[in-house]
Amino acid sequence: MSKELIDGLNKALSDEITRIVTYLNQSFMVFGPSRNALHETLEKIAIKEMNHMELLSERIVGLGGVPTVKSKDMEQTYVVENMLKMDAKYEKEALETYMKIRDIAKKENELATVNLIEQIMLDEQSHLDEINKMLRKNPS
Ligand SMILES: [Fe+2]
Ligand SMILES: [Fe+2]
Repeated sequence: MSKELIDGLNKALSDEITRIVTYLNQSFMVFGPSRNALHETLEKIAIKEMNHMELLSERIVGLGGVPTVKSKDMEQTYVVENMLKMDAKYEKEALETYMKIRDIAKKENELATVNLIEQIMLDEQSHLDEINKMLRKNPS
């Protein structure tokens, strides 16, 4: 087992736990005429992040490590545009974190982990795309 890989996965896990709480909290705190759509989208993303939490935890145990339960400080902002900008920033950071972990896993020939991380990256990319679409003001 590699400490570097397990530490990387645990860092990502801690970020996921933070994002689950953040997205859920945001889904409760959206108001106005777009409330329903935003509530559902944010809740759906939170559930995906829960799935990532599960996948990462199982992989860490599989590699002989202990999955963290620690979350990080959560930024709270409820002006929809600021909230979505913050979410987009976090999704970009998640993609960078996962790219680094994928490189470590590749170096160690941990192909199942490479595959798992790439699957998670597809989800994060689609979150980022959806958030960017919500931030977009006009079609062109
Ligand atoms: Fe995630
Ligand atoms: Fe995400």
